[in-house]
Amino acid sequence: MRTPQHQRPLWTAWLFSVLSVTLASSLTSPATAADVASVASVVAPDAVFTVQAEGQRAIVRVLTRADSCPSISWSGKPSEVMSLRVAAATLPARQEAIQADSKPAVFDVRTCEATWPQGVHSASVAGTTLAAPLANIKRIVIIADTGCRMKASENAFQDCNDAAKWPFAKVAQSAAAKHPDLVIHIGDIHYRESPCPAGNAGCANVAWGYGYDAWQADFFKPAAPLLAAAPWVLVRGNHESCARAGQGWFRFMDAQPWSEARSCNQPALDKDADYSQPYAVNLSPHAQLLVFDSSKTSGKPFNSKDLSYGKYQADMQVVQKLALQKPHSFFMSHHPLLAVAPSKNTSKLKDGGNLGLTSVFETLHPERLLPDGIDASMHGHLHFFEAISFKTAHPASIIMGNAGSANEGTLATTFTPGEKLHGDALVEDYAATAAYGFATLDRVGGGESGDWLLTEFDTDGKAVFLCQIKNSKSQCTKAGL
Ligand SMILES: [Fe+2]
Repeated sequence: MRTPQHQRPLWTAWLFSVLSVTLASSLTSPATAADVASVASVVAPDAVFTVQAEGQRAIVRVLTRADSCPSISWSGKPSEVMSLRVAAATLPARQEAIQADSKPAVFDVRTCEATWPQGVHSASVAGTTLAAPLANIKRIVIIADTGCRMKASENAFQDCNDAAKWPFAKVAQSAAAKHPDLVIHIGDIHYRESPCPAGNAGCANVAWGYGYDAWQADFFKPAAPLLAAAPWVLVRGNHESCARAGQGWFRFMDAQPWSEARSCNQPALDKDADYSQPYAVNLSPHAQLLVFDSSKTSGKPFNSKDLSYGKYQADMQVVQKLALQKPHSFFMSHHPLLAVAPSKNTSKLKDGGNLGLTSVFETLHPERLLPDGIDASMHGHLHFFEAISFKTAHPASIIMGNAGSANEGTLATTFTPGEKLHGDALVEDYAATAAYGFATLDRVGGGESGDWLLTEFDTDGKAVFLCQIKNSKSQCTKAGL
């Protein structure tokens, strides 16, 4: 049993109160077997957090090794037992798993959940208290690509045991200190796919595979301060596709109910489970996020007969309808549409957008790739911070994949006027860094104008870039200038 450090005092107080009640009753009457059993079954949850779903719907999730789901109390009212989302299980290794040394995935925690009722201010589970989701979001923390890369097929092994070389815990701590109303993770949460090679001290004895121990080490433990800070919007990355960590994605992260059909347990059902219906998350009466699952896309353009082509075309048509709901939208997909790729030539922009997605989107929205009303698109996948604005109609593209997973080299630090991405997207403003960090997005004014301030921070929480987001453009300056 492992408990996040920040939750320990509350948890200790809760255990003390449980034991005190049991002890007090044993002083007035002999202890019964039921008393003993009730104490024995007191198990602290491994994680307590809120998943923000469509609209204003939000769900409290609890991961626990106890043999039943815990009780939850809303705003201090009498507690009710949480529902079981999915029971603990050991699942055989998927035969087509990308890593040859795959092993059965042991999920030795059950996932429990309860939907936030309207009008309550807090939820309390086993001594942990969560603040209710807000209808009017003023500050958002954004991260992506957080896990520690362990991938035999690329002989890529990050030093997971070195906090400087895998800094996600520090990022989560610094980001929590910004006191966000909402946290967004734009995908690629789980990276520990292969065992650490013998003799590699940097990742020696690190949990690996698709089971809970790797999820715990890669995400739940280091993310604990940030999980406690605010509700989370979770965007699915290619690491959470069915052939990789998809089973954990549906157990822990997905915003819809768990079902065997959408579990990634049966490869025959991947043709649906590898895709998700886009949905809108409320930010304010004027703004929303549009969440898009791009986990199964390809780096190559799709053929119109490909399964993904039809799926993403239908999904983009849903996005188009959702964008009409509010005057201002941000489009969130793990894979970027317009991006600068890593390159040794740092004086020229190298095209880095996802050709699978753009091959579909450009058929529907040839001028800007995305529907009107989308002011900016936000992504991960590339392990950099990039903010790119265009003279053409394309919405600003922000990449924030630098929150912990291994750096991918160098990229252009500046651009020459006239340079374009993806054929015709004429770059007007560009800021980028390969250093680790995270971003905040602060609403400017009441929200009617759709103006936001994006701040890129280093791992210590020191500002690096300040970017104004206005009228589908971004304009960045180095902090402190
Ligand atoms: Fe990715």
